Amino acid sequence: MEKNSTLPKKWGFGGKSEFKPEPVTTIRGALTFLHSNLDPSDKRTVIPMSHTEPSAFPCFNTTEIAADAIADSVRSVKFNGFPPTGGILPARRAVAEHLSQDLPDKLSPDDVFLTLGCKQAAQGIIQVLAGPKSNVLFPKPGFPYYDHFARLYNVEVRYFDLLPEKDWEVDLDSVVAVADENTVAMLIINPGNPCANVFTYQHLKKVAETARKLGILVLSDEVYGHLTYGKNPFVPMGVFGSITPVITVGSISKRWIVPGWRLGWLVTHDPNGILKEHGIIESIKGYLDSSPELPTFIQGAIPDILSKTKEDFFTKIVKLVKEDAISCYEGIKDVPGLSCPTKPEGAMSLMAKLDLSVFDGIKDDQDFCLKLAKEESVIILPGICVGYESWLRITFAIDISSLQDGMKRLKAFCERHSKKA
Ligand SMILES: Cc1ncc(COP(=O)(O)O)c(C=O)c1O
Repeated sequence: MEKNSTLPKKWGFGGKSEFKPEPVTTIRGALTFLHSNLDPSDKRTVIPMSHTEPSAFPCFNTTEIAADAIADSVRSVKFNGFPPTGGILPARRAVAEHLSQDLPDKLSPDDVFLTLGCKQAAQGIIQVLAGPKSNVLFPKPGFPYYDHFARLYNVEVRYFDLLPEKDWEVDLDSVVAVADENTVAMLIINPGNPCANVFTYQHLKKVAETARKLGILVLSDEVYGHLTYGKNPFVPMGVFGSITPVITVGSISKRWIVPGWRLGWLVTHDPNGILKEHGIIESIKGYLDSSPELPTFIQGAIPDILSKTKEDFFTKIVKLVKEDAISCYEGIKDVPGLSCPTKPEGAMSLMAKLDLSVFDGIKDDQDFCLKLAKEESVIILPGICVGYESWLRITFAIDISSLQDGMKRLKAFCERHSKKA
């Protein structure tokens, strides 16, 4: 009997279009595409200046204290059971105390929800905010996860500008221009990915005042919180929770260099009870009730990780990232066709502008990154992936010798492709 004759004429299932492979204009799609175009005959090491994964380099190893906290938590056998929704109390309390150090209104453990990395916090809040007609305001350039989640949950996205000539501040006029009565929230990312900027206290206050006028909440992605090395200190958006409701999302992924531990949080800053009154807190709980939880033994380690990590570990990491940032920024000055409008001050990536008129035979940012990967085994993200065509997003947080090698190859590539006089 023919094997196929037993098959039904029509199967009752099919893949979801929202989950089809990412196009090359997304970070994941671009990375897959660029990696598949590397030249296998090039024996040099591939330099990954495209996504933030410093944990791959030994100089960025996390602190022993964090590793011990995880081992102690597992060995204690106290954290083998299911965790409650939102996380175990000692862990929520530890996050509340940790974040309260920088806030005027102290957080309670009830304001804190533990998540699988900052990513799940971002996904959750977009899902919670999704209403039949609601729209959200995202920065341009931005971080494409948010667009992805908005697409997934049918939330309309409208973009406001960040101003490169003004240290990538939010163009508040453009926020007002795109908002309407269906706008529910605006997103900021501070310290900034992809722009390496850090907003000042005064600017964040204006963001809060603008959001209040519009009757919307501010969602602040602070996954790079405290990773600053320029003139502006990190100010958490929660400081302005009494002006307008604020939700912050964060994790230990970047500051402790452990993205694989997936330890994140979603925190509400709601001293006036507005989020509660409008059902947002209940919805967050409802979302988490039906979502996978952060493993309990990781939760068990949080109090020690947050309270015992020594300042010298953070100082070392910030010093390494700063050295990379400055080396990349200064290096770009010597690369024909590239410029960087502002000195990086925080986080791990910067935006460099491409002057395509300098080059022969390079069509756009995607073509630039494709040829760079093929010819130099250097992976850099085309700006289109973060909503900014004719720019590049360069991630500099790798070990300094690899970065210097990458910058040398980038320079050689640009010189080789420059129009000859
Ligand atoms: C701005 C921003 N938000 C969120 C995330 C995700 O963080 P996590 O690894 O904690 O999920 C990243 C990761 O690169 C990021 O850059």
